[in-house]
Amino acid sequence: MARRLCLVTGASSGIGEALAREFASHGWDLALVARREERLRDLAEELKAKHGVDSLVITADLAEEDAPEKIVSEIEKAGRQVDGLVNNAGAGQPGSFAELDWQTHERFLRLMVTAYVRLAHLVLPGMKARRFGRIINVSSVSALLPSANAHTRFSGTLYPGAKSLLIKFSEALALEVENDNIHVTALCPGYTFSEFHDVNGARQTVSKLPKFWMLTAGDVATAGYDAVTRGVVTRVPGAWYKFLVAMAKVLPDPVGRALMRAQEKRMARQAQATAAG
Ligand SMILES: NC(=O)c1ccc[n+]([C@@H]2O[C@H](COP(=O)([O-])OP(=O)(O)OC[C@H]3O[C@@H](n4cnc5c(N)ncnc54)[C@H](OP(=O)(O)O)[C@@H]3O)[C@@H](O)[C@H]2O)c1
Repeated sequence: MARRLCLVTGASSGIGEALAREFASHGWDLALVARREERLRDLAEELKAKHGVDSLVITADLAEEDAPEKIVSEIEKAGRQVDGLVNNAGAGQPGSFAELDWQTHERFLRLMVTAYVRLAHLVLPGMKARRFGRIINVSSVSALLPSANAHTRFSGTLYPGAKSLLIKFSEALALEVENDNIHVTALCPGYTFSEFHDVNGARQTVSKLPKFWMLTAGDVATAGYDAVTRGVVTRVPGAWYKFLVAMAKVLPDPVGRALMRAQEKRMARQAQATAAG
């Protein structure tokens, strides 16, 4: 039997790269997608040498409207089908919602929402026909916690809403396909070491967080693979973030928001103290 193939978006770095490694270590072939081709080629070579799996390398900008169709058609032209989908590519959009222009918001929504649901829509008919599919939508713990200024300033005012949509979409889709042997997981990491905070300019602020707040991309990927294999619909990696989400469920909203503000003030004081020398 041909090896199963998993399409991973945002495989050139961070959580997507780690998920590609995780699927490869379980014997999956891959379609690796991002804009930086050389990184994808290096990863493809490494995974071939380590695990003997084959990878298609597909460069695409997922903020472009026709990117999902082009990606899936390239896979089909190579004579392959998509058995697994990791929707992961993403970046924050720092700045004020009111002051950024609409084109910027539109690109953000295409990258963070439309590409995710469009790719799922494109590959689901094949998964249903073959009665097998594994889909991970990389959301964020920020969708499960009260919004914080420090976070939305760097990741964007639309970020927690975009990530919330992915959770509700995953829950609803998991129900729709529960009798088709298709598992859908919303993976909700907290702060994770990757290039994300370099891209959105939050590296200095995030480096002030206590060490136990930081997850590794490898741990997030292992949790995601385990969840989608078992059919767990929402997975929050890491004990600290599980605790925060449990607290957010029981505390009244105003108390949760007050705690987030207190944490922000503490981080701002630490940043000032560091700047002062
Ligand atoms: N790091 C965190 O603390 C954290 C926490 C919660 C959720 N997340 C989510 O995790 C996902 C992965 O982020 P990460 O932490 O791994 O960040 P990262 O290291 O910056 O990786 C982002 C990936 O997305 C790709 N990408 C970005 N814009 C793209 C575009 N327009 N078209 C195609 N690919 C694009 C990048 O590749 P190219 O630049 O080569 O295109 C890269 O492979 C994101 O959805 C993010 O929202 C991250």
